[in-house]
Amino acid sequence: MKNRIYIFDTTLRDGEQSPGASMDENAKVQMALQLDRMGVDIIEAGFPIASQQEFEGVIRVAKIVQNSHVAGLARALNKDIERAAAALQHAKKPVLHTFLATSDIHLEYKLKMSRDQVIDTVGKAVSLAKSLLPRVEFSAEDATRSDRDFLAQVVETAIGAGADVINLPDTVGYTTPDEIREMFRYVIAQAKGAEDVIFSTHNHNDLGLAVANALAAIQGGARQVECTVNGIGERAGNTSLEEVVMAMNTRQDQFPYECGIVTTEIVPSSNLLSMITGLIVPFNKPIVGRNAFAHESGIHQHGMLANAKTYEIMTPASVGHKRTDLVLGKHSGRAGLAKRSSELGFELNEEEVGRLYERFIELADKKKEVYSDDLRMLIVAMYSKAFEVYQLEKLRTFGEDPTVAMVKLKHGDEVITETALGDGPVDAACVAIEKIVGHTGKLEQFNLRAATPGKDAFGEAHVTVRFENKVYRGNGASTDIVEAAIHAYLNAMNKHIAFLQSQEINGDS
Ligand code: KIV
Ligand code: ZN
Repeated sequence: MKNRIYIFDTTLRDGEQSPGASMDENAKVQMALQLDRMGVDIIEAGFPIASQQEFEGVIRVAKIVQNSHVAGLARALNKDIERAAAALQHAKKPVLHTFLATSDIHLEYKLKMSRDQVIDTVGKAVSLAKSLLPRVEFSAEDATRSDRDFLAQVVETAIGAGADVINLPDTVGYTTPDEIREMFRYVIAQAKGAEDVIFSTHNHNDLGLAVANALAAIQGGARQVECTVNGIGERAGNTSLEEVVMAMNTRQDQFPYECGIVTTEIVPSSNLLSMITGLIVPFNKPIVGRNAFAHESGIHQHGMLANAKTYEIMTPASVGHKRTDLVLGKHSGRAGLAKRSSELGFELNEEEVGRLYERFIELADKKKEVYSDDLRMLIVAMYSKAFEVYQLEKLRTFGEDPTVAMVKLKHGDEVITETALGDGPVDAACVAIEKIVGHTGKLEQFNLRAATPGKDAFGEAHVTVRFENKVYRGNGASTDIVEAAIHAYLNAMNKHIAFLQSQEINGDS
């Protein structure tokens, strides 16, 4: 059996379905370039029929990606498939990914289709897809809760109609390692033509089993893993790319397979995604979390000093963590700054390096030591500002019970000032912003943490705000924590405004 495992990254499609994680076209392009650099085999760029913005996002990714295949999702409907093919025609290596559910519960309540109708629809959808593009993947949605023999019949139909890849997803995160291993073995043994296609596994993490199930599926014969950076995705997320790749790399004795991921690009990819979406990586997240390689107990530290292998199963450097958290000085220069930014996952152009350098010098004047996390925060702040419709010019707060906030926002060439009363500085400043912008949000989550050590640390703020039934995440950073929170609130507000503007452009509103 072949030992190459293909990595199908769906951060930009299934990952983007994480509540509040929506990415605009620029963000998708930036992330796609990083995924390409990391060596993923396939980048699923989006669901082109979903909206005009999504269609254009897939086109932009398709045009820019040089090495990876680019996939687009389509239901088993002619209009979806044609739309996806239209977006993907710009890709060097396009993959049309079409899907239809196969479990009885989906057939009865969602699709209202008989099994025969499903077979017929799959055959026609895959044939149409194959007539439009050279490579087609078919996914049997909710495969793990489907009748095995019917599933094998559907798979055989898709193969007969020309599918190159067959994906058997655990859509609801219900299966277990033993079960999914057996499912793959059974379907591969039953479906005629199975030896001519690649089987793929796509797992959701509702029971925390997504990575374990993906690894078991490989043992059952899957040769493609669908996953996302930081494990983001619908509900509890998807198989985490970094975990499944490092499990295979670290346990070659158990998983003697290889994949094309450049593992040192894992942490930079995680950083970039977190910055783009505002979804923070928990400190204890395997592989990419800040504490993933931190040894706290004295016994562990002692062992580590004697030989790192006593407590370390892989090196931080192998996944792109910098062991020495480089302290930058005023004399680091623009080239040093650009190099360090690139190591952190941010490829900046000359103009951006210039802007970053100004902020860096300002910070180095205020703060004794500038760590790489400070630099990350500076880039976060600069990046979120670059796309802001409204930018924070000035913030002042006074008094308590109630607090008064004075906020100055820049909107194009205009500078608008408002004052408001509130229950504390963050509340007062949010009310002042709402008065200026004319939209009111409900702050649903508010997290604040220090990005770096020391009393003069950078504060990192992450918020979730609901505007008219849509949830947005926002992030902000500053050495002043109230200002960090307000940057984050404004960031979410700006995403909402950008969304409303895109609706107007598309005539959807
Ligand atoms: O979870 C799922 O079943 C999916 C399919 C569309 C592949 O995301
Ligand atoms: Zn999914």
